[in-house]
Amino acid sequence: MKAIVQRRYGNPGDVLEFRDVDRPEPGDGEVLLRVHASSVNPADWFPLVGRPSVLRLMFGLTRPKRQVPGKDVAGTVEAVGPKVTRLRPGDEVFGELPGGAYAEYAVAAEDALAPKPANLGFPEAAAVPLAGITALQGMRDAGGVQAGHRVLVNGASGGVGTFAVQVARSLGAHVTGVCSTRNLDLVRSIGAEEVVDYTREDFTRGEQSYDVIFDLVGSHAMSAYRRVLRPGGVYVASTGRPGGDILGPMPYLFRVVLSSLRGGPTMKTFVAKPNPDDLAALAQLIEAGEVRPVIERAYGLPETAEALAHQGEGHAQGKTVVTVES
Ligand SMILES: NC(=O)c1ccc[n+]([C@@H]2O[C@H](COP(=O)([O-])OP(=O)(O)OC[C@H]3O[C@@H](n4cnc5c(N)ncnc54)[C@H](OP(=O)(O)O)[C@@H]3O)[C@@H](O)[C@H]2O)c1
Repeated sequence: MKAIVQRRYGNPGDVLEFRDVDRPEPGDGEVLLRVHASSVNPADWFPLVGRPSVLRLMFGLTRPKRQVPGKDVAGTVEAVGPKVTRLRPGDEVFGELPGGAYAEYAVAAEDALAPKPANLGFPEAAAVPLAGITALQGMRDAGGVQAGHRVLVNGASGGVGTFAVQVARSLGAHVTGVCSTRNLDLVRSIGAEEVVDYTREDFTRGEQSYDVIFDLVGSHAMSAYRRVLRPGGVYVASTGRPGGDILGPMPYLFRVVLSSLRGGPTMKTFVAKPNPDDLAALAQLIEAGEVRPVIERAYGLPETAEALAHQGEGHAQGKTVVTVES
């Protein structure tokens, strides 16, 4: 089968090869998927470039342990391994894998997959898992967003942000999206009642205050976020600034933890966890028309390096998709 293969760390154009590899075999509790589409996330970038270096403890010290990258997937079950109880060949599914999705076939744990939303094609479905789950868990669980809350999404135009605005709206919140000038109309179109253009205005200096700030950028000091949080408010850092080559966003996330010790508003960091129940919850929101993936552009599998390079620039609009033709 054809796949994108990475044998060393570096920039996508230098280290990703489109080549033939052996088709993987599903083990216990796993299925073989015919991949129809994947998408690109910042989580694909770190194991690609091998930075921040601290993450090489997980990804492989000198070269990547996992040679076929790609996490998000939408596809058809081709075959099932032993002990698979729920899925059958022919099922159309979507989900998040530890890797291996930039290929014609991928192996997936049955528990990582849920039925594809009926009203989405494969490319649209592949845009959902990692970013959609982050938005859902970030808003509902970490943020505790409730009807009537004033919610601010910092980084509202990106992969996670475009889902976060819509998920917060579906929970009944009043949403403010922070983005740049070119994305103001997009962020309004997905339901933000208010938008702040970060190139012209600083939301931490305005009059408005918020019950929940969902931060996908890490652009401000903790004291600035605290200034615009209401009493009882929650700040959720889903990231930090990209940070240095060694520790990456960790010093920023450490500052969030330190700030949480001061009392007052809740300041927390958050890491999303793949979960098939939450995938199914997202599928319901999508089928009900409350959430839709925003896709900037689709690349073919041989152009995966270009898709990743675009994502790596940090100004993606919604999701970037990779489509796979067998
Ligand atoms: N904790 C977790 O479990 C988890 C899960 C997923 C992602 N993340 C993290 O969350 C972050 C966002 O992920 P993503 O997939 O949404 O990334 P993305 O698709 O690359 O989006 C980044 C967005 O940030 C916007 N942006 C850049 N600078 C900004 C600023 N100063 N103020 C407001 N917006 C700004 C960009 O818009 P412009 O073009 O307008 O600048 C772009 O649309 C990443 O750091 C990622 O690592 C964390």
